[in-house]
Parts: sequence; structure tokens; C-alpha cells
Amino acid sequence: MKMISAKGASIPALGFGTYKLMDEECTKCVDFAIGAGYTHIDTAQIYENEAAVGQGIKNSGIARDKIFLTTKIWRNEFSGGTAAKSVDESLKKLQTDYVDLLLVHWPFPECSIEQMVEDVMKAQEAGKAREIGVSNFTAAQMDVATKISNGKVVCNQVEYHPYISQKPVLDAAKKADMFVTAYCPIARGNVFKDSKLKEIGLKYGKNAGQVTLRWLTQQDNVAAIPKSATKENIITNLNIFDFKLSADDMAAIHALAKPDGRLIDPEFSPKWDMAA
Ligand SMILES: NC(=O)c1ccc[n+]([C@@H]2O[C@H](COP(=O)([O-])OP(=O)(O)OC[C@H]3O[C@@H](n4cnc5c(N)ncnc54)[C@H](OP(=O)(O)O)[C@@H]3O)[C@@H](O)[C@H]2O)c1
Repeated sequence: MKMISAKGASIPALGFGTYKLMDEECTKCVDFAIGAGYTHIDTAQIYENEAAVGQGIKNSGIARDKIFLTTKIWRNEFSGGTAAKSVDESLKKLQTDYVDLLLVHWPFPECSIEQMVEDVMKAQEAGKAREIGVSNFTAAQMDVATKISNGKVVCNQVEYHPYISQKPVLDAAKKADMFVTAYCPIARGNVFKDSKLKEIGLKYGKNAGQVTLRWLTQQDNVAAIPKSATKENIITNLNIFDFKLSADDMAAIHALAKPDGRLIDPEFSPKWDMAA
């Protein structure tokens, strides 16, 4: 597994996304993914599956310190002043004393960035989060978070796949020695319909999803967290470290970005950086 390093932290470049995985199915998938070789698991309070994720990790039998575990705090906890309590609840559900990465899930408009970042900093100071970061932050908001935290925020988790350019966020991350985690990395399955990605894959004996995940993780300081509920897909998505895309193929995939390529855009989104 390729590892990323940012601000002294070491992060597995490929992780397992768990949004929409629930209950028993979630537990089984997390257990299976760890058995297949994933060492990085992504969840969030709003997914309502932290207990199932925690059980999956436990069932796998893997030592806690061999897993890089991320969770994210949701808006009501910041606005209600209950962030610290919610972290304790997350840890209880996850059956652990700490998460490896604790994120502000969105730059929620009703909360100040200052307050949200301070809340995750307090969790870090209390030993409940090894690293802290943000998600869905624009480049300008990353700068604010960096200043408030005295450079402690190490990650911005954003939507990133071939149809959306995240150049401003990637540049801001590089400047601040942060890493970027790509969510919806296979564009919720859309990449499998893409003739260009399929054509590139033929050269390497890989499918369009593997080409996409390789393209993401071949970039400096980018991690990707595909989700799958299917055993075969869980294994296939991990099988991306035995080939290398040429510079021309990397550029051809970058060229697929388009202005309307964003999939996740709720009403509380910030004013995004340019999309392509
Ligand atoms: N921070 C945020 O605001 C945020 C937002 C969204 C997502 N996330 C995180 O990012 C993770 C990934 O994003 P996502 O789940 O939205 O989308 P995704 O990983 O891009 O796509 C998941 C979809 O692709 C399918 N798929 C996966 N591997 C496949 C394969 N090899 N062949 C064919 N189909 C395949 C899955 O179906 P099967 O299950 O049937 O394989 C599922 O329908 C989430 O699970 C979550 O942890 C974070």
C-alpha cells in the first residue's frame, strides 16, 4: 500500500468509504475490506454507521494501531455546542479511544470556521484525534482553517474524480503541507461508462475504476476512498499498485474535467472554487 505523508502523519493512499453501508452489511464489508488489505476506513457521524464500522474493525481481528480511521462531525453538534460530547459518542460506537483523523464535515454556514476548527483542535488536545482536518472546504477556507489551527489541519476531504478539477484545493494543500482525500473517487460508478478511461485501461489490463483510482493516488498527497458493497469490487479497487500511468495518460484523464462535473452540491455548500 502506498503511504502519503503530510505534517509528519502517515496515511494509506487508498481507503474504504462506507457511506450508505448500514448495519450488518456495513460490518461485513468493513471486516471483508480489512481482510482484503485495506488499512484506512472512512466514516462520519451523519452516516449513522459508526457502530457497524467499529464492529467490522473488531471482527477483522486487526490491531487498532494498524488501521487509519476517519470520522467527521456533523452540523448540529457544532451549532448546538455538543461537538465534544459527539466525539465521545463516536468513539464509543467505533469501540476505540481515538480516531486517526477527525474532520469538520462541511463549512456549515451557520457556524464560524473558527469555532468548528477549535472544536476539532480540542478533541486533538484531549487525545481523541491523532490528526484533524476539514472536508468540503474551498482553498480560501483552507487558508483560514490553517491560520486558526496554527497549521494543525492536515487534510481536506473533497469530491475529486476525473470530471472535476480540484486544482485550487490541491495547490492550497501543497502550500500548507496537507493531503487531499478524494471522495466519490469513481464518480459513484460513472467512470465505468467512460470510453476514454476504458481505452486507457486496456493498455494496462485494468478497468476504468482502477485507472481512475490509480490516477488519483499517483498524484502527490492524494488519497482516495472508494465505497463498495460487493466483494469482487472491494478487491478490484485495491488492485491498483502494480502499474503506473504514463504522463500522457495522466494528462488525458485530467483533461476529462468539465464545469458541470460536480455530483455533490447541497444547499449549504460554500461558493466552490472553479470546477474545471
Ligand atoms: N466528506 C464528504 O462530504 C463525503 C461525501 C460523499 C462521500 N464521502 C466518502 O467517500 C466515500 C466514497 O464516495 P461514494 O460512496 O459516494 O462514491 P464512490 O466510491 O465514487 O462510488 C460508489 C459506487 O461505485 C460502485 N462501485 C464501487 N466499486 C466498483 C467497481 N469496481 N465496479 C463497479 N462499480 C463499483 C459502488 O457499487 P457497489 O457497492 O455495488 O460496488 C457504488 O455504487 C463514501 O463512501 C464516504 O465514505 C464523503
